[in-house]
This record gives sequence, structure tokens and C-alpha cells, in this order.
Amino acid sequence: MELMESGLSNRIEIVPGSAFEAIPSGCDAYIMKYVIHNWSDEEVYQIFQKCREALPEHGKLIIFEQIMLPGNEPDSNKWIDLHMMVLLVVENAQRKIAVSRKYLEGFLKKII
Ligand SMILES: C[S@@+](CC[C@H](N)C(=O)[O-])C[C@H]1O[C@@H](n2cnc3c(N)ncnc32)[C@H](O)[C@@H]1O
Repeated sequence: MELMESGLSNRIEIVPGSAFEAIPSGCDAYIMKYVIHNWSDEEVYQIFQKCREALPEHGKLIIFEQIMLPGNEPDSNKWIDLHMMVLLVVENAQRKIAVSRKYLEGFLKKII
């Protein structure tokens, strides 16, 4: 709906599929916004490999994600990351909870 209202719908092609299988080729740049943050490192590598296969030599892959700064200072991204780790990515939860503990040390009184 937003695409139609923007007047850009004639420049957009919607292609169903999974980024783990193939990325449509023939483009100079690919933008991924808030797509890779809930995948494991291995899965992100697979997605990037599919992007590499689709990209021409001069192509660009543009990633939009929140940056989590190191250290124990409060940061809303740490809360979001914790939610992602615990609620959405159960199969990676153990590894990611270990990472989150590291991030949250000294930030929370008690990490459950
Ligand atoms: C958090 S949403 C972000 C949506 C949008 N880019 C935005 O910023 O509002 C994550 C997106 O990843 C897409 N996604 C999930 N698994 C995917 C896959 N295997 N291949 C391609 N896209 C996938 C979902 O359809 C969803 O649109």
C-alpha cells in the first residue's frame, strides 16, 4: 500500500523466495534493513554468500542495523538484543545469552 502511494510501484518488482536459496540477480545494489540481526553468524554468512553470488563486481550490499556499542553503559539496543535472543532465536539462545550476559554485566543487578 505504501509503495503504491509513493508512486514508485512501477519501479518495484516483488520476488518471493528465501535469501538462503537465492537473491534475484541483475541489480547494482541490495539493501537489507533489519533482516540479518536475528540470524546466527553462520546463517548471516550464508545470506551474504547468496548476495555475493547475485552482486556484480561493482555492486554494493547495504546493511541497515542497530549498532550495539561495547561496554556496560545502558543502551536500548541491549534490551532489544536480549528480546531477540530469548524470544525469537531459541536455537541460538545459549550462545547468545552468554554474549548478552557479557554485555549486561554490571548493567543489571541480576541476570536471570
Ligand atoms: C524485522 S523484518 C524487517 C522488514 C523491513 N526490512 C523493515 O525494515 O521494516 C525482517 C524481514 O526479513 C524477512 N525474512 C525472513 N526470513 C527471510 C528469508 N529466508 N529470506 C528473505 N527474507 C527473509 C521477513 O520477511 C521480514 O520482512
